[in-house]
Amino acid sequence: MELPVADIYAHITGWGMSVPEKILTNDDLAKMVDTNDKWIRERTGIHERHIAAKDETTASLATEAAVNALRMAKLTPAEVELIVVSTSTPEHIFPSTASLVQDRLGAEHAGAFDLSAACTGFIFALNMASQAIRSGSVKNAVVIGAETLSRFVDWTDRNTCILFGDGAGAFVLQARDDPGGVLSSVMRSDGSGGNLLSLPGGGSAHPATNQTVEQGAHFIHMNGREVFRFATRVMAASSREAIEKAGLEVEDIQLIIPHQANLRIIEAAARGLKLPMERFAVNVDKYGNTSTASIPIAAVEAAEEGRLQRGDTAVLVGFGAGLTWGALTVLWTGPFASAPPVRIAPYRRFARIRSVLRRVWRFIEGIIWGRGKTG
Ligand code: ACO
Repeated sequence: MELPVADIYAHITGWGMSVPEKILTNDDLAKMVDTNDKWIRERTGIHERHIAAKDETTASLATEAAVNALRMAKLTPAEVELIVVSTSTPEHIFPSTASLVQDRLGAEHAGAFDLSAACTGFIFALNMASQAIRSGSVKNAVVIGAETLSRFVDWTDRNTCILFGDGAGAFVLQARDDPGGVLSSVMRSDGSGGNLLSLPGGGSAHPATNQTVEQGAHFIHMNGREVFRFATRVMAASSREAIEKAGLEVEDIQLIIPHQANLRIIEAAARGLKLPMERFAVNVDKYGNTSTASIPIAAVEAAEEGRLQRGDTAVLVGFGAGLTWGALTVLWTGPFASAPPVRIAPYRRFARIRSVLRRVWRFIEGIIWGRGKTG
């Protein structure tokens, strides 16, 4: 029997971001390593970046970004069915950062997992969550890109420490049967370039030892020139491919939202696409490279500035460690007009209480079960 296939789209109905308050300027960095404001601005376009305080973590930034996105979408945490956190700086190897976010939001009906594709992570995660909605498997999802790269940067290495910043951005996706959300996708990987950008220590290949700590294996290692060459090759090409797959022309795209790693890489992409820089969202000057958080943060700011409006077609394009790269063509819509406003704060308060009660109950259960043990 052939089942009817409904046309379901995954609309982007909410967006939000969260960055730490603390700002580290280029001049601050010049006091820490042999560099200067002029070099960093000219070679990267970065002026400053936000750095997490002691009590801020990938999950706390991710949760704040998700709350802002849910508030805009007018969706309660209880209605969320899927949470995907893309991150390269998770709180732990396990449990997933997404599970911590699920607990803090009080999203009691959601499955939650992390996705690791470095700076391309948000592109992959947004596409996967969209496909879950388009297949009819879930109706609502939250996709978050979140990083605290400052915890993995060698602050004595001027080649890397000037580049990275912390932050999180989130989208809410919701099912509807008129076109909206991700229209086409390109997802690529080339593991032969894995050594060009890596965090070698702490995994099963090189578990943490005194030696891995002494060797600096728990910091980001990067061949900047090679990553730069790779990035300039793939940004324009994958954008073009995604646009073609959507049956559109480059001229039909109102805004390109690229991964914010280096202004020169974005300029190369603009040349490759034969588009003026005004058609690109750029905020690398304020945040540096926040890896997988950079695309949603740039999208949130572009929407706030009115550069991304209901009915616009945009391309999100990224590259990163793996190597990975990818692009999505999206039709920007926004919150469903019919939904009444929601208050997220009570859900979060209740989530905290429930989480504590569950731990207490687990403890009590453990004692009860423990008594029955014969050893
Ligand atoms: N301040 C002053 N001088 C510096 C600094 C610094 N912070 N860093 C490097 N230099 C020096 C180098 O030592 C070198 O000196 P030398 O010629 O005497 O050896 C000189 O500046 C030029 O170095 P290059 O590496 O050629 O500089 P380049 O113009 O390539 O810029 C950069 C370096 C900014 C790292 C660039 O290559 C880049 O942006 N690469 C891409 C990095 C990237 O996007 N990474 C993230 C990927 S996403 C992810 O998955 C996390």
